[in-house]
Amino acid sequence: MTKKGKTTSSEEIREAYQEKFDKYGYDPRSLFWKGLGASHQRFRQMWAEIDFNDKSVLDVGCGFGEMARFLTKRYSEVKYTGVDIVPEFINVAREKYPDLRFEVGDYFYDPMNEKFDIVIASGTLNSNVENNMDFRKNAIKVMFEHTKRVLAFNMLGKHPQPENKDDSNIWYADSLEILDYCMSLTRRVAFHANYHPRDFTIFMYPVNKRN
Ligand SMILES: C[S@@+](CC[C@H](N)C(=O)[O-])C[C@H]1O[C@@H](n2cnc3c(N)ncnc32)[C@H](O)[C@@H]1O
Repeated sequence: MTKKGKTTSSEEIREAYQEKFDKYGYDPRSLFWKGLGASHQRFRQMWAEIDFNDKSVLDVGCGFGEMARFLTKRYSEVKYTGVDIVPEFINVAREKYPDLRFEVGDYFYDPMNEKFDIVIASGTLNSNVENNMDFRKNAIKVMFEHTKRVLAFNMLGKHPQPENKDDSNIWYADSLEILDYCMSLTRRVAFHANYHPRDFTIFMYPVNKRN
């Protein structure tokens, strides 16, 4: 039976997804999505803001590589890399997209020693973990340190913060607390909270000498 409630380690996050995969296989429900529409709705926020043409892209928590399918169709010369903590998901992704690069790993604790033009994370920061805010802030910091042009991630939550349940696998953040943290790392941010009642997307752009 799927463990309910908070996870205390990456191992437990991985196991929760693996249990879903054992049950559903190659299906959005293995990714804790109700259906494909839930992920596509979030992807659309990313097209609206980012030009992916001719860029290197890291997709953190890529699942089955659904984003890769869109990126390679919509844009030219995308140099895509997907990373996921669940080896079973990466096996499916490699089979479906043999020309693309996929890696297995826990990106927030052991990131690849490489920077990318664009780093994205869709649905990757939704788990109910032991220290929810610290976990999210560390993840954002790690991803931003590996970003050359823009980091884009989404997250469940809003302001004021919705009530959370201890026995849930997901956790809703206070979107403004997350935004405030992002603005402590860079003043160049965009915030989308108009596409879903309890999900938001943040875009973070490194500041350089010209901007
Ligand atoms: C909700 S699913 C979304 C998958 C994909 N981004 C999509 O939209 O279809 C979240 C994914 O993040 C992965 N994940 C969670 N924590 C991770 C970590 N620390 N490092 C890499 N991947 C992680 C999970 O295994 C899962 O595949």
